[in-house]
Order: sequence, then C-alpha cells, then structure tokens
Amino acid sequence: MTLPVLLLLLFITIPFSESKLSMEYYKKTCPDLESIVRDTVTLKQMANPTTAAGTLRLFFHDCMVEGCDASILISSNHINIAERDADINQSLSGDALEVVARAKTALELTCPGIVSCSDILALATRNLVTMVGGPFYNVRLGRKDGKVSQAARVEANLIRSNRTMEDIINYFAVKGFTIEEMVALSGGHTIGFSHCKEFADRIFNYNRTTATDPEINTQSLLKG
Ligand code: HEM
Ligand SMILES: *[C@@H]1O[C@H](CO)[C@@H](O)[C@H](O)[C@H]1NC(C)=O
Ligand SMILES: *[C@@H]1O[C@H](CO)[C@@H](O)[C@H](O)[C@H]1NC(C)=O
Ligand SMILES: *[C@@H]1O[C@H](CO)[C@@H](O)[C@H](O)[C@H]1NC(C)=O
Repeated sequence: MTLPVLLLLLFITIPFSESKLSMEYYKKTCPDLESIVRDTVTLKQMANPTTAAGTLRLFFHDCMVEGCDASILISSNHINIAERDADINQSLSGDALEVVARAKTALELTCPGIVSCSDILALATRNLVTMVGGPFYNVRLGRKDGKVSQAARVEANLIRSNRTMEDIINYFAVKGFTIEEMVALSGGHTIGFSHCKEFADRIFNYNRTTATDPEINTQSLLKG
C-alpha cells in the first residue's frame, strides 16, 4: 500500500473507531451496569431530591469543556487547578458529584476497573431526568475518561447568563448545535434553582430609571 493510501485509511478509521459508542458496550464486561446505576441513583434522588438538577447541570458543564469525559470530576492538586475549581464558580452540586462516586464505588465490587465515570455520569443523568418527569432516551456507552482537567479552559467553553441571545446562539453553534437543539437543551432549566446574583440586577437594578427589565414577566415574578 502506498503511503498516501495508508494515511487516508488512518484518517478514515481513527475517528470512526474512537467515536463508536454502543448500547452493548458493557454487555459482557459488566452486565449488571444498568441495574447498579439505577439502584444507586434512585436511593440518592429519594434522599436528596436536588440531585437530579445538579447532575444534569454537571453533565452539561462536563460535556462543554473537553467533551463528555468526566474531566469535571477530577480534583485539583498542588500542581493543577481543575475544571471544577474554575474562577467562574460554577457552584456545582455536591450531590451530583456524590451520586457518580457512589455508583462507581458500587460498580467496583462487581466489575472493577471497567466502567468509565463519563458513562456513569451519562447514565445517571438520563435516569434522573426520567425520574423527575422528563423523557426516557437510550444512552450509548463506551466513553473514555479524560485525564486533562484545567480551570483555565472553563471560561472560554461556558457562557454566562448575562450574554446576549446572539452570543448564546453562536456559542451553541460553535459546539455543533442548531438553534432548535439549543432551545430543547435550555429546557434543562425546567428543574433546579439559580442563585439570586444571576438575575437580581434585572429585577431590582436594571438601569438608572427602571428597576425591572420590562422583558421580564412581572406576573411570573409575583407567583414565584
Ligand atoms: C446558555 C446556556 C446556559 C446558561 C447561560 C446557563 C446558566 C445557568 C445558571 C446561571 C444557572 C444557575 C446556577 C446557580 O446559581 O447555581 C443554571 C442552572 C442550571 N442549569 Fe444552566 N445554563 C445554560 C445551559 C444549560 C443546559 C444546556 C442545561 C442542561 C441541559 C442546563 C441545566 C441546568 C440545570 C439543571 C440547572 C439547575 C442546577 C441545580 O439546581 O443544581 N443549563 N444554569
Ligand atoms: C461560589 O458561589 C456560591 C454561591 O453564590 C458561594 O456560596 C460560594 O462561596 C462561592 N465559592 C467561591 C469559591 O467563590
Ligand atoms: C457578565 O457578568 C460577568 C461576571 O459577573 C462580568 O464580568 C461581565 O462583564 C458581564 N458581561 C456583560 C455583557 O454584562
Ligand atoms: C431603562 O430601561 C427602560 C426600559 O428598557 C428604557 O425605556 C429607559 O430608556 C432606560 N433608561 C436608561 C437611563 O437607560
């Protein structure tokens, strides 16, 4: 085979073989995966009902920085400040980090060293979304965990809530999402909470003459 043909083959096969996720990925190596994750997640959600929203958001923040590789779970050490300790202060939920750790611990008894934390996070998120009334969807497996987790890479890959609609549409487009997909994903905010600092200015301190941003529906504020 000539070199150009070999190179071409490499380019064709590498991306496909690396990106192949499947429903059967752990069928032989960890057949009880789904039930172990389901049991762990159910117990955690019943004891701490904020787990669902926290985990959905954790998954989003993991995926947007370096892909869905669980790099958001990595702790900082003396030579590296990890994603989860970025300046943006993501206020990531302890319950979300814990539910993945619990499932991973349970899995180590049955199939040690087999299941990636990124697959656990993807499955746990799906189960939690379904448990709180969202849709059920199939999750294909086979993600590998990343070893790179740098706080410095977070700011450029997440977007703050005070940006314009145009910026936000563009941000999702850069990540490969259409506007329709962006709107669907934003439905994630159907559950969970936000700290006041994210929106208080728009209610109490909009500009010099008007306290509340007229685009906010004040009826819904009163109900809240
Ligand atoms: C334009 C993109 C987005 C922005 C600017 C944004 C911003 C925010 C902010 C500011 C909060 C409140 C955090 C806090 O005060 O602690 C929040 C919470 C949340 N976000 Fe997003 N978000 C975005 C996209 C998404 C997507 C795509 C999902 C998932 C599909 C998601 C899921 C959540 C959830 C579930 C919460 C609640 C977390 C909890 O209660 O613990 N967000 N988001
Ligand atoms: C992050 O924000 C939360 C909520 O506003 C606050 O309680 C916490 O102290 C902040 N953490 C850091 C490290 O700034
Ligand atoms: C949005 O908020 C951040 C942090 O609070 C601030 O640094 C930035 O200037 C704000 N951006 C806009 C467009 O208001
Ligand atoms: C404040 O916002 C209101 C509503 O958008 C607008 O009519 C008004 O001109 C603004 N005032 C200043 C000083 O920017």
